[in-house]
Amino acid sequence: MSPAPEFNLASRTLDDVAVAGKRVLLRADLNVPVRDGKVMDATRLERLLPTIQELSDKGARVIVLSHFDRPKGQVVPGMSLKPIAESLGRILGKPVGFAANCIGPEAENAVAALNDGDVLVLENTRFHAGEEKNDPEFAAQLAKLGDIFVNDAFSTAHRAHASTEGIARHLPSFAGRLMQAELHALEAALGNPQRPVAAIVAGSKVSTKLDLLNNLVTKVDILVIGGAMANTFLAAQGLSVGKSLQEPGLQGTALEILKTAAAKGCEILLPQDVVVAETFSANVPTKVVNVEDIPDDAMALDVGPATVEAFVKRLPEIKTIIWNGPLGAFETKPFDASTNTLAKAIAEATKEGKVISVGGGGDTVSALKLAGVHHDMTYLSSAGGAFLEWMEGKVLPGVEALSKAFSNLG
Ligand code: 3PG
Repeated sequence: MSPAPEFNLASRTLDDVAVAGKRVLLRADLNVPVRDGKVMDATRLERLLPTIQELSDKGARVIVLSHFDRPKGQVVPGMSLKPIAESLGRILGKPVGFAANCIGPEAENAVAALNDGDVLVLENTRFHAGEEKNDPEFAAQLAKLGDIFVNDAFSTAHRAHASTEGIARHLPSFAGRLMQAELHALEAALGNPQRPVAAIVAGSKVSTKLDLLNNLVTKVDILVIGGAMANTFLAAQGLSVGKSLQEPGLQGTALEILKTAAAKGCEILLPQDVVVAETFSANVPTKVVNVEDIPDDAMALDVGPATVEAFVKRLPEIKTIIWNGPLGAFETKPFDASTNTLAKAIAEATKEGKVISVGGGGDTVSALKLAGVHHDMTYLSSAGGAFLEWMEGKVLPGVEALSKAFSNLG
């Protein structure tokens, strides 16, 4: 696995290009939760505003490209970007045009009709099979609609698709303000962090976070492991975890991770106590037990208060925290308690300027919102899969395309 390249922010941002009168193809991530045609969470749209407003104010003709959902190369009317374009217009406070195709005459005519400062959204790029195949011909068709390419979709930068990667081979390419902010925050958290740096990783399965754990033990000083994946680590150490979710087949892997961590000087913090219940549903009777005493007929559904307290006590020595995954089954009360307590403690330390805190991943963002502290972290990434892949140390093609020297075109 090659390390993620350091991104040279200074050389390729909106500060480095004159956009007035230019047709700017802006790759955004309009993949927002929609129910019955209504946007349920507009965070991703709101975060795009600085880039769109800046481009529009500077007199660019802004042409927004995005995927939405997974239509697999087919036109699926329920996956149209039209309602999202309308929401974007409302949030932006100005009309946003819409073209019912992202290539061909419909797109070309809509682009030709733009005036300086106008904003247009093109239909879902994934309605064309060439998008996910990163088909050079499809990328060329997209590229001919613009003069420059601006990528503001960090959250889809882990996909080497035509509108995220292929297009950058055809046009002078720049990072938008959201992309810039994401990369800046991620660099501060893991690329070149103030130490000691702690990572909090949780989730249900070790198997889905193997690459992540293996990368983090080589990079961070303290690794907190929570969620059901901690049960696999506890079981690997010979403890009985009762009916708790665990992956018996991965106990060997868990021990390997602990060994690597010890060799690299990464301290692993596993739960000392857990909240158990006999069934998993809201407000069932629960008990806090030490991890040595998990009853055979119970399952661990949250880490316990002593575990959280032990980590909170360590906070004053920690300079940087990166968080992916709620500690317990946070969507069902009372199994949100440890996540809430930890989130509040980290938010407090952040507000006091004592720690840099960066979180990411869909569940993590939801949990921090439920805890009411999502505005108090240093940075909360709008990315899910891309955040995870970046934490795994993988090269993100959409970011790499911006850093690479396709600049002979610009
Ligand atoms: C996301 O929501 O994580 C991005 O928009 C990427 O979507 P995808 O997983 O369908 O590629």
